[in-house]
Amino acid sequence: MRLVFLGAPGVGKGTQAEMVAAKFAIPKISTGDLLRTGVAQKTPLGLEAQQYMTRGGLVPDNVVIGLVAEKIGSPECEKGFILDGFPRTILQADALSEILQEQEVVLDRVMYFVIPRKEVVRRLSGRRSCSTCLAVYHIDYVTPKQEGRCDECGAALVQRSDDKRETVESRLMVYKEQTSPLIDYYKEKNVLAELDGTGSVEQVQERLLALLSRS
Ligand code: AP5
Repeated sequence: MRLVFLGAPGVGKGTQAEMVAAKFAIPKISTGDLLRTGVAQKTPLGLEAQQYMTRGGLVPDNVVIGLVAEKIGSPECEKGFILDGFPRTILQADALSEILQEQEVVLDRVMYFVIPRKEVVRRLSGRRSCSTCLAVYHIDYVTPKQEGRCDECGAALVQRSDDKRETVESRLMVYKEQTSPLIDYYKEKNVLAELDGTGSVEQVQERLLALLSRS
């Protein structure tokens, strides 16, 4: 199963990708997580990426394409993968298509998550992430057992710096300009499936699994 999860910041792609990846025992490849790990470890790539991420802009295509190509080419992705947050530009989508062609495999589905803008802002402003294992919570919707602590590893939960209101506005604008053209791009390739991302995490999961079970 080779999937792309597409949609605006905060629609719930990462949350659902985590659950689907566990269910089907395939890796979730999140370019956002890979980049944030680079930032935290202060790698050269992380330091380059940081300047774009803090402003809510996109990291240059060649950087993220390189990251994804390396992952997809690894043995753990032989049985499939979920791409969360990649591709985000037409150039990245074309590069993905070439990578898959070289491996003689195809993309099965692009799940396009849709929720109202007001809900996007609510989800992003309340998001908290684990400072160590990157698990994701929400102050109202997905609460940890102990306030401010990760259920998985006990580390402190923090707010992502790009979830501040001004940066969220830039991210939404960048999404509209650079990423939303991918909706038509994948519609034309007949692989796009639109998913209503409203409701609880469990309700969205149910809808998503139902869509995936249709051939
Ligand atoms: P990235 O980390 O990919 O951010 P994003 O796409 O903006 O997506 P988010 O992580 O914000 O949201 P999500 O849809 O995963 O929602 P989540 O499940 O967390 O990218 C960050 C930055 O890295 C980019 O801005 C860019 O700079 C750079 N970057 C990354 N990829 C790149 C690329 N390909 N090219 C160039 N640059 C790139 O949910 C959000 C919140 O809602 C959470 O609190 C969650 O608990 C909660 N929630 C989830 N589902 C529900 C539900 N059903 N009901 C209630 N709450 C819910």
